Amino acid sequence: MKVLVTGGAGFIGSNLVKQLIEDGNEVVVLDNLMSGYRENLNPYPGVHFTEGDVRDETIVADAMHGIEVVFHLAASVGNKRSIDYPLTDAGINVMGTLTVLEAARNAGVRKIVASSSAGIFGELKTLPIREDHPVEPDTPYGSTKLCMEKLCLAYAKLYPIEAICLRYFNVYGPNQRFDAYGNVIPIFAFGMLEKGSITIFGDGEQTRDFVNVRDVVQANIRAAMAKGVSGAFNIGSGTRVTINHLAGLIRDLVPSKTALTYGAPRPGDVRHSLADINAARNAFGFEPSVSLEDGLEEYMAWVSTVLK
Ligand SMILES: NC(=O)c1ccc[n+]([C@@H]2O[C@H](COP(=O)([O-])OP(=O)(O)OC[C@H]3O[C@@H](n4cnc5c(N)ncnc54)[C@H](O)[C@@H]3O)[C@@H](O)[C@H]2O)c1
Repeated sequence: MKVLVTGGAGFIGSNLVKQLIEDGNEVVVLDNLMSGYRENLNPYPGVHFTEGDVRDETIVADAMHGIEVVFHLAASVGNKRSIDYPLTDAGINVMGTLTVLEAARNAGVRKIVASSSAGIFGELKTLPIREDHPVEPDTPYGSTKLCMEKLCLAYAKLYPIEAICLRYFNVYGPNQRFDAYGNVIPIFAFGMLEKGSITIFGDGEQTRDFVNVRDVVQANIRAAMAKGVSGAFNIGSGTRVTINHLAGLIRDLVPSKTALTYGAPRPGDVRHSLADINAARNAFGFEPSVSLEDGLEEYMAWVSTVLK
């Protein structure tokens, strides 16, 4: 199968590319390297890489030739980035998605699997979160991801293209680097190994559902294979831990003990998060298989190679 991965040089995208290549697919990647790394794709010389922007109609149309499935991951990622740069966030996540959808329908693509986010829900009213939980995003990022979903699902109603939107909870794993907009696991991991100290925002009793990137890759591929299925689905581990517990697990994996300090809660952060994953389980057989303990051990081993 010939597939296009937008954002394929990023954290989740490069892990997806790895599996797609191992499964024998022909893989085209379109990425402008805004937050991705060309070297993430170095192990896969067979990948057709185009450096370009999903907002560029010509480049996207060129990348779409002969494609059966589009995995759309390219995005301006994260709450904080969207608060700092709301216009860029909307440009990429809304107009970029629309550009991909237009090119996909013109090229006769069978399916688009788009990366959405639990950020669309906003503060949670019930736990675990099912897909029919109210969607009241607290940030521009959550709002543009919701808009992205609605565009994909509208195209699936209007045209002969199937669309599955995967609402990831907190994803972690190899190739997830630390940056100013990073998620908590890379921030803790790099902070403990490099600085010997980390700051927990709030009291640390907030909870998150951490899902390993290998399980997210599995969700993407099973969603692509599920013929006749469109819709939006939660993708998490179906379990949650407090940030204090997470910090303890990571601290157990580093040689020298880390100082923990506490700071003010961050704007836009929800208090609790936990995915109900039964809909994805029933629709396309999603079944997370990597425990947080095993996943963190693998992640910390990868971080050590980066810091060498
Ligand atoms: N990491 C998480 O916990 C998480 C959670 C929920 C949703 N997501 C979603 O998963 C997807 C992948 O995220 P990630 O964590 O791998 O982040 P990432 O930043 O590593 O990947 C995003 C990729 O998109 C590329 N990109 C950005 N703007 C682009 C543009 N205009 N044109 C082409 N490429 C562009 C970046 O260079 C990068 O390679 C995103 O859609 C994100 O919103 C991630």
